[in-house]
Amino acid sequence: MATAKKSTSKPKKKTLKLELDRYSGNVGPDVVDVQALYKNHGVFTYDPGFMSTASCQSAITYIDGDKGELMYRGYPIEQLAQQSSYLECCYLLLFGELPTTDQLIEFEDTIRNHTLVHEQLMTFYHGFRRDAHPMAILCGVVGALSSFYHDSLDVNDPEHRQLSGYRIIAKMPTLVAMAYKYSIGQAFVYPDNGLTYSGNFLKMMFAVPAEPYEVNPVVEKAMDRIFILHADHEQNASTSTVRLAGSSGANPFACIAAGVASLWGPAHGGANEAVLDMLAEIGSVENIPDYIEKVKDKLNPTRLMGFGHRVYKNFDPRATIMRETCHEVLSELGVNDPMLDIAMELERIALEDDYFVSRKLYPNVDFYSGIILRAIGIPTNMFTCIFALSRTVGWISHWIEMLGEEQQKIGRPRQLYTGAKHRDFVPLSERKKK
Ligand code: SDX
Repeated sequence: MATAKKSTSKPKKKTLKLELDRYSGNVGPDVVDVQALYKNHGVFTYDPGFMSTASCQSAITYIDGDKGELMYRGYPIEQLAQQSSYLECCYLLLFGELPTTDQLIEFEDTIRNHTLVHEQLMTFYHGFRRDAHPMAILCGVVGALSSFYHDSLDVNDPEHRQLSGYRIIAKMPTLVAMAYKYSIGQAFVYPDNGLTYSGNFLKMMFAVPAEPYEVNPVVEKAMDRIFILHADHEQNASTSTVRLAGSSGANPFACIAAGVASLWGPAHGGANEAVLDMLAEIGSVENIPDYIEKVKDKLNPTRLMGFGHRVYKNFDPRATIMRETCHEVLSELGVNDPMLDIAMELERIALEDDYFVSRKLYPNVDFYSGIILRAIGIPTNMFTCIFALSRTVGWISHWIEMLGEEQQKIGRPRQLYTGAKHRDFVPLSERKKK
């Protein structure tokens, strides 16, 4: 089978000395302004994976990777996880300030008014195989929302942007729960607007029409905290995907569907599912040393899932909160999950091993979240859908921030070209058999 030809030429190295403007934000690293670099000097910056590139200005979330700090609009995640609610954090991320009591009540009522989805949307679910991955379903149905809400697709209208944001934040729990019910062959459960955002989600996930359903307050609080911890995270891969899609003027539902697709990757939001699969593969505490050796073997692509982070070179503060919540929830539910024992021992061994310490690889948000979700009764293949549900407010907040900017440009990166130089077409009859 023909394989794509890899470029063989090695980029040639020279040195360029330049004076460029440097800007400071309110906190965090300065930036060097390279916007006019190509126009003035005929060169591009080169930064695969954007290791040192600031793609935009933003006032929503700040991460200090060395200190292991995360703030939504300046408020530390530890305080929000302890004292706030997911919907209050949604208000904070969207509008920049904590709401007053009246503002919060009005916002919660608004979100409640949009929890239902069009009855026709249910037909989309029945087009999928029952064993379709829930993220495949979510990619499809979120994008399909564009076909139902023609009254809020003008991305240049601030009211349309806000209404679309309310709609997608309100409907994600309904869509995610429907993906779960469809996968297990149970009837869809309609939203119950008498419950909290997280309580309503749990009911849509676990209630059955034949019996009453009581929301467990311990599970409700844990679910809400998991939603808070995953709500936003600066310019991560899926948020950058939403921004790039939005920069072309694509409608909000299409942009969020792009974010869902990017989040699915195991290097990103798919890691929580991959962590549970890894813990299951390890199987017991005794097998951990062999697994660690496999991870450290350069010839082996296996990675320690739930470990490492592009920005955090210290503990991911969300992992610390998640670990504490894990113990709380499992003890309050009386769950004794051997996976937690394996995870704790795996973390202990890894944090004493120079391979991980020297590379500053610490547990990230995904390392413990799956164990709590499992304890709540959510199946592994639904974990990334939970992440997408929570991150929707982050995606929408960044999309709204970007579209609210004075100067807007379509995102269009350039490249370092290492392919074939100009050559003339060769007719088929004259091509030599390779
Ligand atoms: C999320 O960006 C965000 O903010 C994401 C997120 C969010 O909220 O949006 O925080 C959510 O995606 C968390 C990350 C979830 N992913 C995983 O847990 C998957 C496992 N981790 C990795 O694959 C990795 O750590 C990344 C993708 C998270 C970060 O990769 P980087 O920054 O590109 O680092 P790298 O791949 O260049 O690795 C640097 C070195 C390499 O070794 P050397 O070549 O230097 O010898 O560290 C090694 C890597 O091999 N390494 C790992 C490792 N992660 C990095 N080795 C073993 N196990 C790992 N998990």
